[in-house]
Amino acid sequence: MTISTQQRWSAMKAATQYLQSHSTKDLLERVGQRVPDVACCDSTDKQFLPSSYGGGRPNDGGDFLAGHGLFYLTEEGRLFLDCTSGHYQMLWGYNPPALCEAIHEAQQAGIVWDNHSNIPQWPVKQLAQRLETYANIAAGEDRLDKILIGVCTGSSACAAALKMQLSYYEHRRDGEGPPVFIVLEGNYHGTDMFAQRLRGMWRDYVTNIVVATVEPNDIEELHAIFERYGPRVAAFWAEPVMMNREAILVQPEYLRVARECCDSVGAAMCIDEIQTGFWQPRIFSSAEFDFTPDMIVVGKGMTAGFHPLSGLLFKSRYDLLEQYDALNTNGGAALASYVALRSLDLVEAQADRIAPLGERVMNGFRKLAEKHADLLVEARGHGYLAGLKFKRDKDALAFHQRALENGIWIRAHAYHAGHSAILTKLGMPADETIIDFLVERFDALLAQSR
Ligand SMILES: Cc1ncc(COP(=O)(O)O)c(C=O)c1O
Repeated sequence: MTISTQQRWSAMKAATQYLQSHSTKDLLERVGQRVPDVACCDSTDKQFLPSSYGGGRPNDGGDFLAGHGLFYLTEEGRLFLDCTSGHYQMLWGYNPPALCEAIHEAQQAGIVWDNHSNIPQWPVKQLAQRLETYANIAAGEDRLDKILIGVCTGSSACAAALKMQLSYYEHRRDGEGPPVFIVLEGNYHGTDMFAQRLRGMWRDYVTNIVVATVEPNDIEELHAIFERYGPRVAAFWAEPVMMNREAILVQPEYLRVARECCDSVGAAMCIDEIQTGFWQPRIFSSAEFDFTPDMIVVGKGMTAGFHPLSGLLFKSRYDLLEQYDALNTNGGAALASYVALRSLDLVEAQADRIAPLGERVMNGFRKLAEKHADLLVEARGHGYLAGLKFKRDKDALAFHQRALENGIWIRAHAYHAGHSAILTKLGMPADETIIDFLVERFDALLAQSR
């Protein structure tokens, strides 16, 4: 059936109206159900999308119709609780009123979306200033004092960091041989070729570098690899919570040792906070864990899922690239930067509730791991970035499938050898009611797994 734009528009409005007019309690009671009269049986198929983006598959009604807060309705009118904040980026859920209003006001005041030029409007400069403060909470004199912000996703910012690390390596020239990048097994730093090389792709094409991969949290191995390569180490990369490897928490102690190792050989310590950043009261994990890296990569949560904006915070000594060589041609997304500023205000205003609620998620998951010890190995992660590690991949996949059937949108990592986890990253609107609902639902689904 082909439906008109008008029909699609009406369906979206009806869905939004439905979500806005029901309380959290009402919505939680109906999660997983079809909402009568809210559907848009859209025939638009996805054949022109690449196959890795669902292209070529028939439209089964499961695509997104409209969202509000942590809930969304699919095109076939099924209600979901989104436990992953979109794909880990909608800090305040779907269309949070405070940020939507801020956008409206900002446009009226003359803030532009993106002039993509190097005459930045006030919000871009203001955001740089605010980020500098958060990044240096634990810093001494050697501060992260440069910030590159651009209209792009996290992958570009990771690529910019890698280019700067190479430039600095060439500049200091005290290592003999190709530069070494120490990375964690299971790393993910985006889709640029260089970053993909860090996770084993393009070996024959991205050459003349050494990628040394270590197991997260193995301090002995870390010392050994730094000792082996010495000043040839250009950089050490880590994500504090490996949301791309079963929510492994990279221990603060391990990161502090990595800090010392980097200092001992002159390597850049680069922390990818694209996942962890903004999801905590002190904004960055490095501040929470009390160390200061040489570079911090940010993205995703910074604009809470509005216009993509990413950035790189770094120390002046890495400021070696020319204009047009670093992130994107110019950048200058004032409105996105403004959204980021208002979102930071919200994080600051709610700082006191963020840590206890994050802990509530983790405690709930820990109790599940204890209670269902026959199925689960352990709870993983930190705060809102949480996971449950299953003993067997097929149980993790079956659990994931059952959660989706029950309207609980979560992710599974069980497609690579040895991976058998499910992951959640609730948005900040998640309160005690939502967290407890999630833990109870998981408990019931785990009980059904036998
Ligand atoms: C840790 C990490 N780094 C980099 C990226 C790449 O960011 P983007 O998809 O916004 O380009 C992601 C995306 O999921 C990520 O999780």
